[in-house]
Amino acid sequence: MVGEGSYKANTYNLEFEGEIQRLKAQVLLSWEKEARTLTWFGLADGMNVLEAGSGPGFFTEKLLELLPNSSVTAVEIDPVLHEKAVAYLQDKGGDRVNRIQASVANTGLDDNTFDFAIARLLFLHLPDPVAAAREIFRILKPGGKLVIIDADGDLFWLTDPPLSVETLKKKLNQVTALRGGNAYFGRHLCRLLKETGFVSVDLEVAVSHSDIIGIEAFEPLLDTGPILQMVKQGLISESDIESYLVSRDEFLAAGDRRLMMSFGLMACGEKHQ
Ligand SMILES: C[S@@+](CC[C@H](N)C(=O)[O-])C[C@H]1O[C@@H](n2cnc3c(N)ncnc32)[C@H](O)[C@@H]1O
Repeated sequence: MVGEGSYKANTYNLEFEGEIQRLKAQVLLSWEKEARTLTWFGLADGMNVLEAGSGPGFFTEKLLELLPNSSVTAVEIDPVLHEKAVAYLQDKGGDRVNRIQASVANTGLDDNTFDFAIARLLFLHLPDPVAAAREIFRILKPGGKLVIIDADGDLFWLTDPPLSVETLKKKLNQVTALRGGNAYFGRHLCRLLKETGFVSVDLEVAVSHSDIIGIEAFEPLLDTGPILQMVKQGLISESDIESYLVSRDEFLAAGDRRLMMSFGLMACGEKHQ
């Protein structure tokens, strides 16, 4: 995997394919609510859309379905994930989908090209989010909008019975920071947009709850693959995950479980006319 930043698919999971499936589960979990809010922010069929940090293409697929008359340009830095997306999207969207392997900070795309840009779970991994926001600003048309969908470490894993995540979360966030990311970036989105020159900045949230979509939708995200991989790589210790693993087993065995989480802080800004 190449590129700077804290997201590297093969360092997240023991099995690369396991990480791909985790990304897919994350998209499915909150797509309906994210699509609703994207539409409310102004995303509409027929627009020329940019998707930054598109990974293996699951979110791209959803955009192509939602917007049957739109073109979607998917920019992805990682050559392996880019190839995955090329294969996955081969029979989806036809010539409406354009896949580019490049950094979002340097896309090579023309000024004033896109009506709407979306970056999902990308900015928290970027060592230089300002450069990325400036590049998206450049390639948006005047009046075009950017929506950044990002997580914040304090809006994860609100459960009953409780999961013991504090030690683990602290460690995982340190690993993200070491790699140049910021797991608490959600709270910085509005100011980033304003300082880049976006106007009419607003913030919404897409929340997922097991009482609404069922506990099964969350199960791939409780997979221990990513944390065991970090233990294997010496990034976190076995004692860091001990209490989490015990509470996770208790949670999975409990008859009555509730789980609420938000991947989706959604910040929107407009490039002035
Ligand atoms: C957590 S994944 C999210 C993928 C997808 N957006 C989704 O929601 O499923 C983050 C993606 O951003 C990509 N990425 C990281 N830095 C990037 C950069 N500078 N330019 C473009 N893509 C980047 C990663 O390779 C990865 O595919």
